[in-house]
Amino acid sequence: MSDLALKYKAPRGTSDLVYPESEKVEGILRVAAAELELRGYRRISTPIIENTDLFRRSIGEATDIVAKEMYTFEDQGGESLTLRPEGTAPVVRAYLERSLHARGLPQKLYYLGPMFRRERPQAGRYRQFHQIGAEAIGSPDPFIDAEIISISEALFARLGLRGYELVVNSVGCRECRPSYVRMLSSFLEGVSQQLCDECRRRSRENPLRTFDCKKESCRQALESAPAIGEQLCPACREHFTATCGHLDRLGIRFRVDERMVRGLDYYTNTTFEFQFEGLGAQNTVSGGGRYDYLAEQLGGPATPGVGFSLGIERLLMAVDAQGLDPFPGLRLDVFVAGAPGADRGRVLDIMTAVRNAGISADSDFMERGLKAQMKQADRLDARLVLIVGKDELERGEVTFRDLDQSRQWQVSLSMMMSELRDFLEGVKRDG
Ligand code: HAM
Repeated sequence: MSDLALKYKAPRGTSDLVYPESEKVEGILRVAAAELELRGYRRISTPIIENTDLFRRSIGEATDIVAKEMYTFEDQGGESLTLRPEGTAPVVRAYLERSLHARGLPQKLYYLGPMFRRERPQAGRYRQFHQIGAEAIGSPDPFIDAEIISISEALFARLGLRGYELVVNSVGCRECRPSYVRMLSSFLEGVSQQLCDECRRRSRENPLRTFDCKKESCRQALESAPAIGEQLCPACREHFTATCGHLDRLGIRFRVDERMVRGLDYYTNTTFEFQFEGLGAQNTVSGGGRYDYLAEQLGGPATPGVGFSLGIERLLMAVDAQGLDPFPGLRLDVFVAGAPGADRGRVLDIMTAVRNAGISADSDFMERGLKAQMKQADRLDARLVLIVGKDELERGEVTFRDLDQSRQWQVSLSMMMSELRDFLEGVKRDG
């Protein structure tokens, strides 16, 4: 159908996930779930809509997400709801609401699903995107920070990915951050003439975010800005040193960047990002950190927590950019083709018998001739075609045709299933 004739398209910044990409994503999710379960994380699924206030309070009013990117609407009952822009606040909300602490601490939870942010779409940045994420709630132990970081690294290794850097930082706590922010604010006041309008606004509302500006003039102005590392209180310094020590213990390489800031306000202590080469501006595939006050901000008891989220679209971009194909698309095992004159009922019976044996099978439903059926089998990437012919059926036989090897042979109906199994085992073994 031509473009002009299409009346409806997926909304800007969203897309359909169609095979074989959908199967690649399934493969990635399976491997990620296995890595998470290996470390004792259990699955949680929260609603896609939440009360708007949940995100305002947790992510922070002055962040880009809350200030301009949320899909917020009033429902028919006058309640303000928001399509979740991220998964951490909902998980902590669920942890508190469902008293998950009673099941023992820490609660190690993971989630998969769509998130929504009304950003300007570009490569690697969408309005609906998908995250795999995990939250470990209830423990302040720096090993859990390292464990959370290790999950992305393990997934990258399973997929064969390289060319990335883990950047870590500590953003301090309520004891040490306020004085650092004051120090940074007065520094920013001194250089405000050199800052862009956006950074001037940031220096009033959320000074740390000025480090995120990509403009060269702002970067230069910030070169001599005070770094948080020197301002950390002894407890935060100790926590950060211990986290880095555990990363070393796990054999995970990283770089400390005291200017790395994240786009959400709930972080305390550890923050981290995995940044990939060659992905352009949207090069952070996975990120996260600790949020020891979040539960309290949501009205619960003081409860430490740490987590990460990984963007699946960006992960796929990295997989493709590196020429990897860890999860080739599904192949059909058997296409059952009917030769001219063959009884169609028998063709369908054979297809059904194959399926009932747990072997994937399909047939023609478009009244195609034999040649066109072969083409269809090829499109479906069938490992084997069973040709059912009138004369052969009378002799109690069918033809096996191996499309990959371009060879065919006769098989008696009584041996069909066992030959089929042997053949498929052989091709699967030989790759
Ligand atoms: P975030 O850095 O906002 O953190 O997002 C995590 C990841 O989601 C990003 O690194 C990126 O891969 C992906 N992502 C974010 N926005 C987009 C977008 N517009 N299009 C495509 N991918 C995107 C969080 O969401 C925190 N909840 C992480 C966390 C968990 N912190 C503690 N626990």
